[in-house]
Amino acid sequence: MSAPLRENRVVGVLGGTGPLGLGLALRWTRAGETVMLGSRDGKRAQEAAEKLAARIRSENPEATPHICGAENAAVCAATTTLVLAVPFEGQAGLLKVLKPVIQLGSIVMDATVPLAASVGGRPTRILGVWQGSAAQQTAELLGPGVQVAAAFQNVSAEILASADPAHEQIDCDVIVCSDHPTASQVAMDLAERIPGVRAVDGGKLENARIVESITALLISINIRNKAHGAGIRVTNLPERTTR
Ligand SMILES: NC(=O)c1ccc[n+]([C@@H]2O[C@H](COP(=O)([O-])OP(=O)(O)OC[C@H]3O[C@@H](n4cnc5c(N)ncnc54)[C@H](OP(=O)(O)O)[C@@H]3O)[C@@H](O)[C@H]2O)c1
Repeated sequence: MSAPLRENRVVGVLGGTGPLGLGLALRWTRAGETVMLGSRDGKRAQEAAEKLAARIRSENPEATPHICGAENAAVCAATTTLVLAVPFEGQAGLLKVLKPVIQLGSIVMDATVPLAASVGGRPTRILGVWQGSAAQQTAELLGPGVQVAAAFQNVSAEILASADPAHEQIDCDVIVCSDHPTASQVAMDLAERIPGVRAVDGGKLENARIVESITALLISINIRNKAHGAGIRVTNLPERTTR
């Protein structure tokens, strides 16, 4: 992605007080992105943002982290670059509430995984989603004025947030699926702002169903191997995959 497109970008993370939102925000803020954490409770988001900023300053006293927190609706009003990081059971309800304030032309990068655990089932099972995937549900709920990309479903929040130097580089590809080239480009660019991550163009949004399922598989692999944060790599690709 060209530098001018990045200029003045504010990355709004809806559900940014959870492990995934915080992990992504940590990595992006460290990389120099301006991040706005969203929450149903503005104060909770502010406190989470202050904690992340303090962590970054303690790691590097020279750093000037650009991160703040606000209610989810205020985040949508403030930026058109949004990441959705909420549990599946809350996804549709939250989007219905936020739809009136999500700006036309916004890019929404959806990390939601419809794990059965979100409705009391097993964490290794995926729920059937009428639209095909959680990301397609997002696209349907937000309508044609918003560009949805599915991304970040396979990256471990625990590894993103880890203070272990061994996890400074994230050993995982981020597969991006979207029907909108600009949304794909933005999601792939943000993915590669995370050290070690390679973004892979995964094609149309309908492929999000497969990527979401991989997360359930990775959880199962973690359990069987007593591991945390298993990730995926797609091999034998040329330097950059584009459509
Ligand atoms: N954790 C991971 O390693 C990981 C990795 C890849 C993908 N994912 C997927 O990414 C999403 C977020 O994961 P997470 O582990 O960060 O989830 P989480 O902790 O369950 O939730 C994230 C945030 O969403 C908000 N939230 C919770 N219930 C909500 C509801 N009913 N309506 C609206 N907002 C609600 C909460 O923020 P407030 O209470 O502050 O509003 C919470 O802090 C999930 O769909 C998950 O499957 C997770």
